[in-house]
Amino acid sequence: MLPDVIGTPRLRLRPYEPADAARVLDTLSRLDVIRWLDNPPFVPMPDLDAARAWVEKVRTKEADDPRQAWRAVEVRATGDVAGCVLVSRLERVEGGFVGEYETGWHLHPDSAGHGYATEAAGALTAAAFAAGHEELNITMYPDNGPSLAVARRLGADDLGEREDPWYGGTSRLLLLRPEHLVEGPA
Ligand SMILES: CC(C)(COP(=O)(O)OP(=O)(O)OC[C@H]1O[C@@H](n2cnc3c(N)ncnc32)[C@H](O)[C@@H]1OP(=O)(O)O)[C@@H](O)C(=O)NCCC(=O)NCCS
Repeated sequence: MLPDVIGTPRLRLRPYEPADAARVLDTLSRLDVIRWLDNPPFVPMPDLDAARAWVEKVRTKEADDPRQAWRAVEVRATGDVAGCVLVSRLERVEGGFVGEYETGWHLHPDSAGHGYATEAAGALTAAAFAAGHEELNITMYPDNGPSLAVARRLGADDLGEREDPWYGGTSRLLLLRPEHLVEGPA
């Protein structure tokens, strides 16, 4: 089980709440964010009800499998939610779960360029390793330079472009283990 709240020097990672729906909508209704997060078709989040449903969905998924976590990345100085970091169970393209998990991240564009994604992902993955995860996969579109930079800053092992066993197609795959973390496990 991952801790609910994780503190870093500039950030507070905490579970999503219904009150986050407006910010979730403002983030996940943007094509320039969601086009990197999943397979096409990319469907921008349409309204507040969908954002509330998203919050409920991630809370339910985590309750079903506490090795997962979706954390709102709250900036201490402002209280704003910069974005999301997650640890999520991966399903194989052919169907089925074989104990694989990924870590991932996205920011609202107004919060990019401050190091928040790297700081948040470093803290969440350290907590995940402390909670028993042995490795975390990272998968991204091959041309997602900003995300690759985050993964590299974390110290992840870059496996290069490969067939993606979870999302299909060709992805840039990386693997993060406790010993990779620049600041070490929590
Ligand atoms: C991927 C994504 C989270 C990366 O965001 P990011 O802001 O580049 O990453 P970080 O928050 O770690 O910030 C790093 C940047 O902040 C800069 N920075 C500024 N102040 C900083 C500080 N005090 N500490 C650390 N870095 C700082 C770094 O130099 C770096 O900028 P650079 O890339 O120009 O060198 C963002 O592009 C995004 O949300 N994309 C859409 C969704 C997505 O692709 N998700 C990943 C799917 S695999």
